Amino acid sequence: MEFALETMETTECYRLLTRLVAPRPIAFVSSLDAAGRGNLAPFSFFMLGGAAPPSVVICPLGDRRRGDKDTLRNIESTGEYVIHVVTEAMVARVNQASFDYPPEVDEFDAAGFTRVPSVRVRPPRVAESPVAMECRRFQVVRHGSGPMASNYIIGEVVHVHVDDAVLTDGLPDTHLIQPAARLGANDWSITRAAMHFSLARPTAP
Ligand SMILES: Cc1cc2nc3c(=O)[nH]c(=O)nc-3n(C[C@H](O)[C@H](O)[C@H](O)COP(=O)(O)O)c2cc1C
Repeated sequence: MEFALETMETTECYRLLTRLVAPRPIAFVSSLDAAGRGNLAPFSFFMLGGAAPPSVVICPLGDRRRGDKDTLRNIESTGEYVIHVVTEAMVARVNQASFDYPPEVDEFDAAGFTRVPSVRVRPPRVAESPVAMECRRFQVVRHGSGPMASNYIIGEVVHVHVDDAVLTDGLPDTHLIQPAARLGANDWSITRAAMHFSLARPTAP
């Protein structure tokens, strides 16, 4: 079957592409608005960008009702946020935090997460996640306009917290973290050690 995207509705493009670009890691993002009110939301449009400087990208899409999502507004106004890895124990509450709460509701309280002070940025980190990456906004690139248009938030990772329980030889161990990921529709997956394999990089043509 062929799909000509220029003939398709925005929601059809979304349904198609989220089934194709999968599994996607989930950034669970803590931020504060200009008045200091907290916010938590998951974003699976999330990628590692580079290491010099260390950079990551999240994409809050345009919202039909609100225009910009709270996370985008907050990061544009304060420049600071924390990205957490999602584990199986967090999944139901992370999903609840994705509810369309008004800006004055802090999803830490609404979804039942615990605040821990961050080291280099003002938004608190989430105690329940074994991994927290403290970030500063580098640039927001707006691509398109209206519902489901993308906003690429490029950020620099300035400090990382990793729970000792998921370290092996001083480095985070994916076998122990078992991160959750997003597939198409409302499907999720958990990265389990039984599904991992290693492959050395080629050393010859
Ligand atoms: C697992 C998961 C992944 C999500 N990924 C995205 C995403 O990448 N981009 C997006 O705009 N919304 C995404 N959403 C929906 C947002 O979390 C939701 O719109 C949320 O209300 C945004 O919160 P905010 O307005 O506080 O920023 C996702 C929801 C879930 C449950």
